[in-house]
Amino acid sequence: MTKGRLLIVAHQPSENTRRLASVACSAVAELGLPSVAARLLKPAEAGANEVLESDGVLLGTTENFGYMAGALKDFFERIYYPCLDHTRGRPYALWVRAGNDGQGARTSVERIIQGLGWRAVQPPLILCGEWRDEFTGQVAELSQTLAAGLDAGIY
Ligand SMILES: Cc1cc2nc3c(=O)[nH]c(=O)nc-3n(C[C@H](O)[C@H](O)[C@H](O)COP(=O)(O)O)c2cc1C
Repeated sequence: MTKGRLLIVAHQPSENTRRLASVACSAVAELGLPSVAARLLKPAEAGANEVLESDGVLLGTTENFGYMAGALKDFFERIYYPCLDHTRGRPYALWVRAGNDGQGARTSVERIIQGLGWRAVQPPLILCGEWRDEFTGQVAELSQTLAAGLDAGIY
């Protein structure tokens, strides 16, 4: 039985951010854990059903205009009330890709998540400044940590 259904909702407007999203998903498969499965969706493809069917959520966004990407905000607007009474305590983690410090995106996500009552099980990963190839490894590690935690039942 799959006990670790990890939903990855990632905004991917550029080649770099597509790499991050892709590695977040493939890194889970590389763990080879039979009871863990990652599903990667763009925010526009994900809705309340996908969240309700998950055991953990990994969010990826760019920072746009000092806020989360509009696509991710739209996702939250669609899932907020359908999920509100059903996903409290849901483990989640977040990565932000930003040219600047990424704090606007981070806090905007955290404010909504606070309302939903989800639990941050890892500190937010802020990938800021010029692109660095090591970002992909950091996202892979975050995703694997979340997946392994779900598998072990520690969340
Ligand atoms: C409309 C728009 C607004 C943006 N606003 C910000 C911003 O406020 N702060 C920031 O650090 N980056 C901002 N960016 C840059 C994005 O965060 C950047 O495109 C994203 O991190 C992907 O970068 P990369 O593909 O070059 O790695 C903005 C990009 C767009 C398209």
